[in-house]
Amino acid sequence: MSAALPPGPRLPRLLQTLGFMFAGPRFLERARRRYGDAVTFGTLFDERFVMVFDPELVKQLFRGSGEQLHAGEANALLGPILGQRSVLLLDGAEHLRHRRLMLPPFHGKRMLAYEQTIREEADREIDCWPIGEPFTLLERMQSLTLAVIMRAVFGYQPGPSAEELRRRLRAMVEPLARPRGLMMMAAAIRGRGNPEAALAFERQRRAVDEILYAEIAERRRLPDLARRDDVFSALLLAQDEEGAQLSDHEVRDELVTLLLAGHETTATGLAWALDLVLHAPVVLARARAGEDAYLDAVAKESLRIRPVIPGVGRVVRGEPFALNGYEVPPGMEINPSIRVIHRRGDLYPQPEAFRPERFLGENAPDTYTWVPFGGGTRRCLGASFALLEMRVVLGQVLARTALRAADAKLAKTQFRAITLAPKGGVRVVQERAPAPV
Ligand code: HEM
Repeated sequence: MSAALPPGPRLPRLLQTLGFMFAGPRFLERARRRYGDAVTFGTLFDERFVMVFDPELVKQLFRGSGEQLHAGEANALLGPILGQRSVLLLDGAEHLRHRRLMLPPFHGKRMLAYEQTIREEADREIDCWPIGEPFTLLERMQSLTLAVIMRAVFGYQPGPSAEELRRRLRAMVEPLARPRGLMMMAAAIRGRGNPEAALAFERQRRAVDEILYAEIAERRRLPDLARRDDVFSALLLAQDEEGAQLSDHEVRDELVTLLLAGHETTATGLAWALDLVLHAPVVLARARAGEDAYLDAVAKESLRIRPVIPGVGRVVRGEPFALNGYEVPPGMEINPSIRVIHRRGDLYPQPEAFRPERFLGENAPDTYTWVPFGGGTRRCLGASFALLEMRVVLGQVLARTALRAADAKLAKTQFRAITLAPKGGVRVVQERAPAPV
């Protein structure tokens, strides 16, 4: 006899769907208490899937083979924007090949060059902020992280061409910043929604592709590509063991992937971090001193208490996946809940408290307990980049500006297609002009 699926609520799928939509973390936490660390759910969107809430199970999953556990399939909804050759959508050997080709520009010495770029863009952004009147941080952080990607990833200097590409990219990914934008867009593209929306999206995608393919062709002709330190140039030069390179189509898909994966996520992480810091006077005072290790801990603790991505997915293929004595059959998705794991009181004492100190010293949470970037062979390719960006931007903002939160309470969480964003965008006031650079 084959082993069973983990237990789970017997509620009708409609009620479980409502539980996810309206009670998210509370619904999941209650299910965890009742059924344990692996729970089978069913909703109107997915008939049956398993969620895991424990580092040991997360470890089993993240250490599983990429041939058997397909993250690409779990990300399929992003296909129309990213393209089918995106590292986020590929699985198995193809995924590993792309990942290896993409990793070098996200490591080592390259990071030093990015640090300077990030600091310059942060200062440029800060110098535009109004004084004495409220403004919304999330928007400002979106603008900043996009500017950073334009330079560090795409290799554009600020100017009219960068501005045009930036405008077209934003128009294309705009549905992803709306609560149900992604689902509506996917339905429209599959012919099951508003045909106008599908046409509009197609136009926007073509407008972006036009620039990207022209740029790819132009850069392939440049003699000094190897001397450039942007990711775009590195992708054009990268070779696998057989000497094969990424095609134009693949380079296009990976560029859009890096933009989509790296822009809104980091902006949201920064807006949350600043919201948390500005509501915590003791943390604020220490963070203003600008010590790197502490700012890094602030970024990590923010991503714990306000993870930008609530969970990740792996679809089982081939053999059933053995999970703690249960068996998950092929075709079914397994989802570690980042959000629930990060709030477990046994792993994080007083889980509601914002305490960067948790990440200083020897007892910092391990790779399977702190999982804002997922894990295993699918762990976020830009995790070091994102943490660097968060540390540098937090450092510049807190050292140079006198910001105060405009609202007495922390922002509520709003699900925006992919990210968990601060509702209202975190309103702040700058009390006097920023200190000069
Ligand atoms: C705070 C900011 C960010 C967060 C919270 C975040 C989170 C994540 C998560 C949860 C995944 C899925 C991991 C999994 O399935 O196990 C992921 C994948 C990915 N991220 Fe990030 N990310 C961030 C920033 C970035 C940046 C800045 C970049 C690049 C510039 C980036 C590029 C990617 C890529 C390419 C993947 C796909 C990796 C693969 O499938 O092999 N991310 N990210």
